[in-house]
Amino acid sequence: MIDNLKRLKTFTDERGSLISIEVGNEIPFIVKRLYYIFNTKNLPRGFHAHKNLEQMLICVSGSCDIKLDDGINSKVYKLNDPSKYLYINKPLWREIYNFSKDCCLIVLANELYDKNDYINSYEEYIQFLEENNEYKS
Ligand code: TYD
Repeated sequence: MIDNLKRLKTFTDERGSLISIEVGNEIPFIVKRLYYIFNTKNLPRGFHAHKNLEQMLICVSGSCDIKLDDGINSKVYKLNDPSKYLYINKPLWREIYNFSKDCCLIVLANELYDKNDYINSYEEYIQFLEENNEYKS
């Protein structure tokens, strides 16, 4: 069963809200990279898995849907709240779609960008799981 949705503590007062993310507290890895997806069109993204990457995905503005698939089960998460995030710490197939116009999806990752870490087809992902039993559900 995939259950990757988590919540961040929000400090809200009459001025608005604030969320803090600290390495070692909310986030269990050392962040080496941060990227964000914005100016989104209604076009899906993702369609890959990572062989070895930890990520935290937060939709800080607007909303999008993220489908995670472990080769057997899949689950769609609606990210529409800056206090919700998805934590991914194993190879999962992901598809991101239903972007609102104001969507800004921030991703924190424990490694630098490496195109060799990508698995770019679902067939290849299933094959990867077959060859790496520890990730099988
Ligand atoms: P891409 O992997 O296609 O995005 P998505 O996962 O949303 O489908 O990335 C788009 C482009 O950005 C591609 O040319 C690779 C580049 N890129 C980087 O240079 N660094 C990064 O950290 C990421 C995630 C992408």
